[in-house]
Amino acid sequence: MADHLATLVAEYGRPEDVIRLASLPRPALEPGMVEITVERAAINPSDLIPVTGAYNNRTILPFVPGFEGVGTVSRVGAGVTGLKPGDRVLPLGASGLWQAALQRPADWCFAVPDDLSIEQAATAYVNPMTTLRLIAALKDHFGVSSRLTGRRIGVTAAGSAIGRMLLMVLLAEGAEVTAIVRSEATAARLPALPGLQTLVTGQRPIGKDMVFDAVVDAVGGVTGGDLLQNNLSAGGVFLQYGALSGIPITQEALSARPDVRFAFLWLRSFVHSAGRQALSSALAHCFDGLRDGTFASEIAATYPLSRIKEALALHHSPDRIGKVLIDPRC
Ligand SMILES: NC(=O)c1ccc[n+]([C@@H]2O[C@H](COP(=O)([O-])OP(=O)(O)OC[C@H]3O[C@@H](n4cnc5c(N)ncnc54)[C@H](OP(=O)(O)O)[C@@H]3O)[C@@H](O)[C@H]2O)c1
Repeated sequence: MADHLATLVAEYGRPEDVIRLASLPRPALEPGMVEITVERAAINPSDLIPVTGAYNNRTILPFVPGFEGVGTVSRVGAGVTGLKPGDRVLPLGASGLWQAALQRPADWCFAVPDDLSIEQAATAYVNPMTTLRLIAALKDHFGVSSRLTGRRIGVTAAGSAIGRMLLMVLLAEGAEVTAIVRSEATAARLPALPGLQTLVTGQRPIGKDMVFDAVVDAVGGVTGGDLLQNNLSAGGVFLQYGALSGIPITQEALSARPDVRFAFLWLRSFVHSAGRQALSSALAHCFDGLRDGTFASEIAATYPLSRIKEALALHHSPDRIGKVLIDPRC
């Protein structure tokens, strides 16, 4: 078997410095495994966090990054019954998508409907499913099984891919939604959604007269801490799922509001505990949201894997609008 093109992280550090191109062997397939030719993979912020060493207690070096992508089954191991060469699949549950030939247990591969484009398929999983989990967590907190009608909900980093998905779903749920963004430029790029309110934080603290029943936060740091301390109603919830500022919420902010529930949501906790049936059902919802546009991700550019450094530079650029995809085959 010919070697294949991959990215490899052999030491922790700045992603631009430590993500290297490599030529990796294609070992024989163990029973129950499939080999997938990865055709598109996304660059998401969460792909880069393990590269920095932030999760070094559960990351084993060296590793291939990339949690999200789509490919076609190229070989199947002994005992695999549900998949055959040529099937288009999403491999879930572990990193490794930033390489041309990925081996994964067949049980962790999920069929992709033919009507989805390759770009839709490559962005079908991480952000749409996290959005669904965040909405489920909000409903759980408020004890509602139907809609979030009338709940005042603030969404930080609202211009991010997942922020936009949250805005659309929350408005459809009947919530009073405020998109919280850090600049006028981002505010101007938000989708024109009926009923959506916008708050630009800039360098200023948010006025204490702004009150939410829930804040869904991907920023952490000062913005998240201020919102938690000053802008939540008693009995409300602060649901954090990211820390784009690179700074955790302070203990002071957490201690200041014993009347507010704080929770951090990890998609991986759901993915590794839900079981295959629940994951299939969640993916079906993700696919529906791609079809009706709720879970659409704008695509900034697609790069061959051999130009991963340029792809990462665009991912980090303040001018980037949309997701950067890579084609690991070239
Ligand atoms: N917990 C989980 O399981 C889970 C799952 C999926 C994603 N996430 C997290 O969700 C977050 C968003 O992911 P994504 O894929 O939607 O991101 P994305 O599409 O790449 O967008 C990120 C955007 O957030 C804004 N941003 C960056 N730093 C910021 C800051 N310090 N303050 C305010 N806004 C900032 C920037 O937009 P502007 O320049 O326009 O402001 C940036 O383009 C990430 O933190 C990711 O790790 C977590």
